[in-house]
Amino acid sequence: MTGVSVRYRQRGARQQSGVPAVSDVSFSVAPGEFVAIVGPSGCGKSTLLKAIAGLVPLTSGHVTFGSGPETRVGFVFQTDALLPWSTASGNIELALRLAGASVTAARKRARTLLAHVGLENAAELFPGQLSGGMRKRVAIARALAYDPALFLMDESFSALDAQTRIHVGNFFLSLLAESQQTVVFVTHDIEEAVALADRVLVMSHGPGRIECEIAVPLPRPRDYHASRFAVGFDDLQRRVWKALPAPREVDQ
Ligand SMILES: Nc1ncnc2c1ncn2[C@@H]1O[C@H](COP(=O)(O)OP(=O)(O)OP(=O)(O)O)[C@@H](O)[C@H]1O
Ligand SMILES: [Mg+2]
Repeated sequence: MTGVSVRYRQRGARQQSGVPAVSDVSFSVAPGEFVAIVGPSGCGKSTLLKAIAGLVPLTSGHVTFGSGPETRVGFVFQTDALLPWSTASGNIELALRLAGASVTAARKRARTLLAHVGLENAAELFPGQLSGGMRKRVAIARALAYDPALFLMDESFSALDAQTRIHVGNFFLSLLAESQQTVVFVTHDIEEAVALADRVLVMSHGPGRIECEIAVPLPRPRDYHASRFAVGFDDLQRRVWKALPAPREVDQ
């Protein structure tokens, strides 16, 4: 993406005004690369992902995909955005049906994907009957259903407890090791960013810009749990912490 700015139009406001959410952001992601984006709350991280996915209009700049406009994008939203009236399996089947699969093929593939995220026994449960971590895993399985070349993940593991986070994180890393998909991963969690990513982009306060980027030269294939104890891990974490902007003072 090059020179991307987004302003959210305020209802009833004149054309030019609006809330600036991100400001003049440029970065590129190589095929197969895992890029994490960290930054203070409200700095525009979710907006950046939506800009990549074409879900918000850009005020300026442009987003291009190396492999052409048909790049398949899988989006795991900050809220898991499952359809409450459809079962875990139904949510995934719908994604597959929209991508052109037959009813039978969609059903079979949905079962396989659910098994991948350890939810083979929860296929017929509705989102309201699942825990937060289980819902996240369904949302991840649904994103996998598109077989995306590019994963956009917004705080996807944040709602998970520490153990499930490591489990799902490792599962995700193992999938990536097989399929070479590209990932842009937004997180509040510096440790998670360093454990997963090849590169960490640090954003400023909103309207966000990219303040700096930190390469993570830890070897792959990576184990989420073990990499946290690897030589150099603490140092990388410290560098990301230092690059983060100081918290804004709260008005008294
Ligand atoms: N639909 C919208 N309409 C108007 N303003 C919006 C909208 N979505 C986001 N904003 C504003 O844009 C800015 C960036 O929001 P965004 O959700 O991208 O931040 P974020 O970095 O993802 O925050 P968080 O870490 O809390 O998820 C904020 O000031 C927010 O209030
Ligand atoms: Mg967000």
